[in-house]
Amino acid sequence: MKRKVIIDCDPGIDDSLALMLALKSEELDVLGITVCSGNVPAKIGAKNAIKVLDICDRKDIPVYIGEEVPLVRELITAQDTHGDDGVGDNNYPDIEGVEPKNGGVEFIVNTLKNEKDVSIIALAPLTNIAKALKLDKDAFANIDEFVTMGGNFKSNGNCSPVAEFNYWVDPHAADYVYKNMPVKIHMIGLDVTRKIVLTPNILEFMSRLGNEKMYNFIKEITRFYIDFHWKQEGIIGCVINDPLAIAYFMDRSICSGKEYFVEIEEEGKAIGMTIVDEFDFYKKEKNALVLTEVDAEKTMKMFMNKIFINNEELIEAMGGNL
Ligand code: RIB
Ligand code: CA
Repeated sequence: MKRKVIIDCDPGIDDSLALMLALKSEELDVLGITVCSGNVPAKIGAKNAIKVLDICDRKDIPVYIGEEVPLVRELITAQDTHGDDGVGDNNYPDIEGVEPKNGGVEFIVNTLKNEKDVSIIALAPLTNIAKALKLDKDAFANIDEFVTMGGNFKSNGNCSPVAEFNYWVDPHAADYVYKNMPVKIHMIGLDVTRKIVLTPNILEFMSRLGNEKMYNFIKEITRFYIDFHWKQEGIIGCVINDPLAIAYFMDRSICSGKEYFVEIEEEGKAIGMTIVDEFDFYKKEKNALVLTEVDAEKTMKMFMNKIFINNEELIEAMGGNL
């Protein structure tokens, strides 16, 4: 049975890889892609999402532009990490005849109102999700599950000593979502995503899996990202955060964790920090499942199997190359 999902994102290099995984997975029925500002302004991100749809031959899926600025803060993008164009500055031409629509927030609300068992996988700042909750919280009574790539528990921040980018860009939206989402929030944070590293060895492995178009696109868009990781963190390869949220949604065995009360700091020197009440000081309802352990090899094998060859035996046989 296919599971119906809306993917909210800010493409973004790792968002693009996550969209590829979702679009190539027969388990998912992607009803639509909504884009907010984050890695890049929303309009640029929406064009990148359409580029990924084109690469995956899924231009039938609608792309909606949502919120272009955070709820309160000034927008701070991550174009130093993802390139000015959001996909590694490869100067890709716009896809002929396919335009993003406006009304991303309304699409989320209307889809939840009109369809049963829809889940949302959020890979970006939570601006669109917060705005949709503010617009019509009752619509979320129908939501199936909510998974967010964002936050950090015991892992250090990636845009301040204590904050993860998605929740730091729009901490007011993140805190609003954690206080108002009617279902348990599955938090795929840096504690687990930092272990999902696309290395030169894995890229070389991908080059031999018989799908040149997908390989070339992944190679092209990750070049800029790999250069950034070498400069910023001295690692060879790149952390691909967002695909883990998709992989986890399809296979819960990939990650494990515990339920806690979570809120997000909205101001001050720790702005954007994910506050996880590990010892239940506040005695508040545990609103989030915080994932802290991950099977990184299983994640990368799923990524390659779904995108390239759909042959688990071959991937397993070549697993030693991971
Ligand atoms: O902190 C990593 C997250 O912020 C990822 O979703 C990345 O794409 C950026 O949006
Ligand atoms: Ca993202």
